[in-house]
Amino acid sequence: MSMFFPPGRLILRVVGLTKRFPGVLALDRVSLELYSSEIHSILGENGSGKSTLAKIIAGIYTPDEGYIEILGKSVKLLNPIDAVSYGIYYIPQTPNLIERLTVVENVLMVMRSYGVFARTSSIRDLVVEEFRRIGSPVDPEARVSELSYTQRQVVELVRASLLRVRVLLVDEVTTYLPTSIRERFYGYLRKMKSEGRTVLLITHKVSEAVDVADRVTVLRSGRVVRTLERAEFDVDYVRRLMFGEDYSASELLKNALSSISITENRRAVVKLDRVWTASENGGPVLKDVELSVKPGEVLGIVGISGSGQRELAEVLVGLRPVKSGRYYVDGLDVTNRGPEVIRAAGVGFISEAPLYYNLSGDLSLVENLALAIRGRLFLPLKLLTSKTRELIEKYGIAAASPKTPVKVLSGGNVMRFAIARELEFAKKVLVVLNPSRSLDERFVSSFTSAIRKLSQSSNLSVIYISESLDEVLRVSDSIAVISGGRIVGTFTRESVEREVLEKLMVM
Ligand SMILES: Nc1ncnc2c1ncn2[C@@H]1O[C@H](COP(=O)(O)OP(=O)(O)OP(=O)(O)O)[C@@H](O)[C@H]1O
Ligand SMILES: [Mg+2]
Repeated sequence: MSMFFPPGRLILRVVGLTKRFPGVLALDRVSLELYSSEIHSILGENGSGKSTLAKIIAGIYTPDEGYIEILGKSVKLLNPIDAVSYGIYYIPQTPNLIERLTVVENVLMVMRSYGVFARTSSIRDLVVEEFRRIGSPVDPEARVSELSYTQRQVVELVRASLLRVRVLLVDEVTTYLPTSIRERFYGYLRKMKSEGRTVLLITHKVSEAVDVADRVTVLRSGRVVRTLERAEFDVDYVRRLMFGEDYSASELLKNALSSISITENRRAVVKLDRVWTASENGGPVLKDVELSVKPGEVLGIVGISGSGQRELAEVLVGLRPVKSGRYYVDGLDVTNRGPEVIRAAGVGFISEAPLYYNLSGDLSLVENLALAIRGRLFLPLKLLTSKTRELIEKYGIAAASPKTPVKVLSGGNVMRFAIARELEFAKKVLVVLNPSRSLDERFVSSFTSAIRKLSQSSNLSVIYISESLDEVLRVSDSIAVISGGRIVGTFTRESVEREVLEKLMVM
């Protein structure tokens, strides 16, 4: 196709980009070159400026200083339509779809703005075919409001892959996709590359960047630290570039589990008794799940994605009906009593997608804090504000002030705030679902040690659900494996072997 180029041609160059937000220097004289036939990864810790850089290239933000060149000519990208006209497309960090429209309608909308005016029926066929190819059973006629978070991400990916774009900007969506879908999407990115197109892949996972990218640029505090070629890819070295010299891999392991033994006769705080649930289309998801968690115990639940973890978390916080079986918190039967009752019973929730499950993006940090404690405590605004300020400080949240709306924070900083809020007001039980989705490794390790400390010092019971075996091994007293909606094995920390867990996970 004439729109693509032979490998190695300079396609897009950003020169000296600076972007300030109130109280934050998000980008500081960033320069970068993107070539045809390249997958270029941007790595950096939470708040280092990755999304801001992509949004400038996508015409969503305009820079305060610096400029962009496309094929050697300086261009002004004043809005996303300008970027689209140069063949640039951005897949956002959190899905940006219209809830009331169907999947096909959401796809159509963007295709039209790309000048593709195919008939609706033939686009529908394309959409169906593309979902089949990526291996996701999303119904193209479903309304977006009915879709799960992951399904929405998949819609974003499919929509992007239907556009013949020259430069695709992918903002962290790949990190926690189901493995099979992620591999197929990588396949698509490699195909783009072989056609002479360009991919900018944003991630905070070093391993992902090193696996997929041809070159990696590391950002720290809004500055380019270095751009590396494949020959220089070394995981430890890249980590040091990301976090600074004080960082080493052993720091992550320092938090390795100190084995504490649980007194066997403590009464369970959380108990699931033979719980079954159904999916949206009626099939069983959780099958005969039995769980019990004692005061101060951290129960890790590990499994590959799609094996029922999300559904289990939803049951535990009251967002998904139980078909049969019972759920008790501290002896109280809370089966199908809804999220308010379960929260009031002392169950907190740290989810993988805080803006989907827990926080209101339009409200400020302090207002979101007020929401979490409503009905339990009344605190005057002044006190709430100083509490919020304290959390910002303590959890290293990059936010200009307690009055900042949550939606302007970077993805990882939204997550940090969600964590801060739940940890500070944790009562009896904390349900944690895939927390590392948007967190950099350093924060994940302080988070897991905070969980251990709280469980020991305040007798908090934690159900830590994750796809990451390393994380679960680091944080848990006991570990259960979930596969195909069933708990297929439960182990104490002392008795468990990694290989056994790995085998069970894929059973
Ligand atoms: N619209 C905005 N208004 C105010 N501040 C913003 C806005 N967008 C970004 N920022 C701030 O700019 C800094 C860089 O944010 P950015 O979203 O680019 O980080 P990131 O590297 O993508 O981080 P993450 O890994 O957490 O997604 C952060 O301190 C963030 O709070
Ligand atoms: Mg980001």
